[in-house]
Amino acid sequence: MSRTTPKPPDAGSALHSAPDLEWLEGDVPRASAFQDTYFSRAGGLEETRHVFLGGNGLPERWHGRETFAIAEFGFGTGLNFLTTLQALRRVGTAPKLTFLSFELLPLSKDQLERALGAFPDLEDETQELLQTWAPEPGWCRCAFKDAELLLAVGDARVMVDDLVSEKVAMPEIDAWFFDGFSPSKNPELWGEDLLKAAFKLTAADGTLATYTSAGWVRRNLQAAGFAIDKCKGFAGKREMVVGKKG
Ligand SMILES: C[S@@+](CC[C@H](N)C(=O)[O-])C[C@H]1O[C@@H](n2cnc3c(N)ncnc32)[C@H](O)[C@@H]1O
Repeated sequence: MSRTTPKPPDAGSALHSAPDLEWLEGDVPRASAFQDTYFSRAGGLEETRHVFLGGNGLPERWHGRETFAIAEFGFGTGLNFLTTLQALRRVGTAPKLTFLSFELLPLSKDQLERALGAFPDLEDETQELLQTWAPEPGWCRCAFKDAELLLAVGDARVMVDDLVSEKVAMPEIDAWFFDGFSPSKNPELWGEDLLKAAFKLTAADGTLATYTSAGWVRRNLQAAGFAIDKCKGFAGKREMVVGKKG
């Protein structure tokens, strides 16, 4: 049986429209245009803790830091951001967090609420996000009491130039969450040029983590300058990738 996969939207036509979503069992959202889910059906919260926090040595690396900067490709439901915020609040003396995230197709408030409703453990953080959620194309800064969310609404491949050229101010990135949809369905977020820009923005001892271990993504990360390693993936996944600049 053949199935036609809808073409992912391009940056110009997509802005301002919330993505078309399907809701799988357990209210897991899947983007129709990419034919992929926003987080693992085996448990989004645990996946974030394992892949993105654990893969970047967090929360341990927060100790003794006054500030810390995380960047992410693909804000999606905000699950990674909210899980990070919660982890930060559980640390006694947490640094002030700057969390930069890129998103081409921001979810509507209703979609966000439904997707995050699956995580009652994040109820407080979710409510905070919903109160400020009004993404507009371009750069949006949202203040949380212990963190700043800098949202780049648009195509990451274009918007990243504003950071590289220092048109938009952002501290050096201490940890990257590479969380595009599956590389075969969303190659735009795993390309060598974008990863090279990410490398330039990274602090000397900065790190990265991603759930995928696709060979061409690993090669692009290495070509960008990162030293990478494989480790045990989340749930049934044999491998994921971690890395560092230095
Ligand atoms: C797997 S989801 C991210 C999940 C998210 N980190 C979370 O916590 O829910 C991938 C995201 O990347 C976004 N995306 C895809 N291509 C993009 C592009 N070229 N620029 C910016 N965002 C993009 C998608 O719209 C989607 O929200």
